[in-house]
Formats: sequence, structure tokens, C-alpha cells
Amino acid sequence: MNFAGKQAIVTGAGSGIGAALCRALVSAGVAVVCTDIDADAAERTAAALGANARSARLDVTDAAAVQAAVDEVVDRAGRLDLMFNNAGIVWGGDTELLALDQWNAIIDVNIRGVVHGVTAAYPVMVRRGHGHIINTASMAGLTAAGQITSYVTTKHAVVGLSLALRSEAVSRGVGVLVVCPSAVETPILDEGAIGGIVGRNYFLQGQGVRTAYDPDRLARDTFARHREEQGNPGETATGTCPVAVGPVVADSDAAHVNRLHRTAAGQPTRGPYTDSLSKPGFRGGNLATVCQWPQWIPSLR
Ligand SMILES: NC(=O)c1ccc[n+]([C@@H]2O[C@H](COP(=O)([O-])OP(=O)(O)OC[C@H]3O[C@@H](n4cnc5c(N)ncnc54)[C@H](O)[C@@H]3O)[C@@H](O)[C@H]2O)c1
Repeated sequence: MNFAGKQAIVTGAGSGIGAALCRALVSAGVAVVCTDIDADAAERTAAALGANARSARLDVTDAAAVQAAVDEVVDRAGRLDLMFNNAGIVWGGDTELLALDQWNAIIDVNIRGVVHGVTAAYPVMVRRGHGHIINTASMAGLTAAGQITSYVTTKHAVVGLSLALRSEAVSRGVGVLVVCPSAVETPILDEGAIGGIVGRNYFLQGQGVRTAYDPDRLARDTFARHREEQGNPGETATGTCPVAVGPVVADSDAAHVNRLHRTAAGQPTRGPYTDSLSKPGFRGGNLATVCQWPQWIPSLR
């Protein structure tokens, strides 16, 4: 598959996974518009990538701005091949401490932001009978972990949107992927703490994921899955997974996966995650007890 000459937009490209996606895209010959609500951060990402990258300030909660960004790219480049709806925020902590404003903020960025990207890009792709939408959800879109309840809510929505759209988009020549990583080494791990629940501790200790995934590796994995999709739209490499879920767990956490397996099967578990349940600050966290869709996750089978 030759990616040279293709055109992509990445949201949340000023940091972490979005910046890594931009690096992977440009190294594959894709022209990319690196967008972020933080214009300086988006520009830093683009500036490091040379002529095939440019930046734009884009707040994904602003539907008109997202539409304008897509229109501008289509007008200028004559195409939009890849739309990465990646921007996201997190709140971690006891849900009784979460204010309605915070609920609304996470819904606006994580759900409406993706909806805005789809609403703007999908019709363009349908008209051309070509294109791919890649949404960054999370492992939290596949499992229900307490104390990141608002995040889980939004990421389930992103997975649901992606699965449903995927099923209808394939007949229009458009692919949809949803990426569901566990902990990835980005600044978000240290953000959004409500009442002292810090994501870094929650994920890396609480869920037994000792080493966060490298964002560049995640970007390469995502791109590789996209490549597979090109040869076989609507199917993953395994042919059994209804959506091409990205890497869901860090490479160090085979034991964590085993615990998920056992717990999904109703068996008791022991280990860093379950041990952590007794620690202050991890009351009620239950990632391991609700893993609804392990059969959809290749690495959990
Ligand atoms: N890092 C992880 O452990 C992890 C795991 C699973 C999923 N994710 C998801 O990956 C995506 C990227 O997160 P990350 O880990 O790179 O975090 P990050 O904090 O490094 O990057 C997120 C970027 O989104 C931008 N952003 C925030 N609100 C925005 C808005 N309204 N409009 C446009 N941009 C906005 C931020 O400025 C930031 O540059 C998010 O959707 C996140 O939920 C992250």
C-alpha cells in the first residue's frame, strides 16, 4: 500500500498519541494537518516533521470549526483520506466529586469531538467512496473501570459509534477503526485527577500495567492495522473481530491479561490489580470484573 500523497487530519496532535500518529503518518509519506486546541503544541509537532506537516488550532468541541478544518483541507488538497479523531481528556476519581461541568467537558471533548470529526469527514469520504476514520477510544471503551466512570462513559460511546459506523461505512468504501489502548506513556496519565486519583497510579499500579505503552509504537501498530484493513476492508487480520481494535495492553502485562481472562470467566484473581483494591484510593475499581468483550480483543483471546 502506497501512502504517498494521501492526506490526513489528526486532532489532539500537540501531544502524546496524536503527535506520534503525525510522526508515523509523515514517515509513511502522508501529508498531515496536526491540529490541537493548543496551537503552539500543534505547531511544535508539525515543525518537527518538515514540509509534509502543517498545523492548525482546532477545538474539537466546536463543530463549525471542525467542519471548517475539514473543508479547508479538502479545498486545498482535493482529498481527505484519513481522519484521526484522537483528542481526549480524562477525569479520574470518585464520581461523587465530579461536577456537572466536568461531566459536560469530558462529554464535549471525548464524544462530541469525535461526532464532530465524523460529521465533517464521513460525508466527504462517502462522496469519494474512499477514506478511513480512526477514532482513539481506550481500553476504557471495552471495560468498565470504576473511578474513571466519566471517561469509561465517553470511551464506550466512541467504541459504539465506531462499531456501528464501521458496519455501514464498509459498503460505502469507507473504513472505520477504533484504537483501544491501555496505558500509554503520555501526559494524560498525570492529568484530570479528582480527589487524588492520578491516572498514572490508577493504570500502572491499580491495573497491574507496569509499563505504559510507547506512543510511537502505538502509532505504528495503528498504522499497521490500517494497512491490513486496506487489503481486507471490513475485516481484521483475524477475520473474526468486528472492529479492528488496536493494541489494548502494554507489552509488559501478560499477567494482567491473564487476570482479565480469569476474572471474565468468573474465577478469583490475585496480583497487583486485585491487591490494589485494598489500598486507599482504589475503592471500587473493577476493570478486571467487567470485561464484556474479550472475544473482540485479539490479545485477550
Ligand atoms: N495515554 C493513555 O494512557 C491513553 C490510553 C487510552 C486512550 N487514550 C486516548 O488517547 C487520546 C490522546 O491522548 P494522549 O494520551 O495522547 O493525551 P495527551 O494529553 O498527551 O494529548 C491529548 C491532546 O488533546 C488535546 N486536546 C484536549 N482537548 C482538546 C480539544 N477540545 N480540542 C482539540 N484538542 C484537545 C490536548 O491539548 C492534548 O494535546 C485521548 O483520546 C485519550 O483518551 C490515552
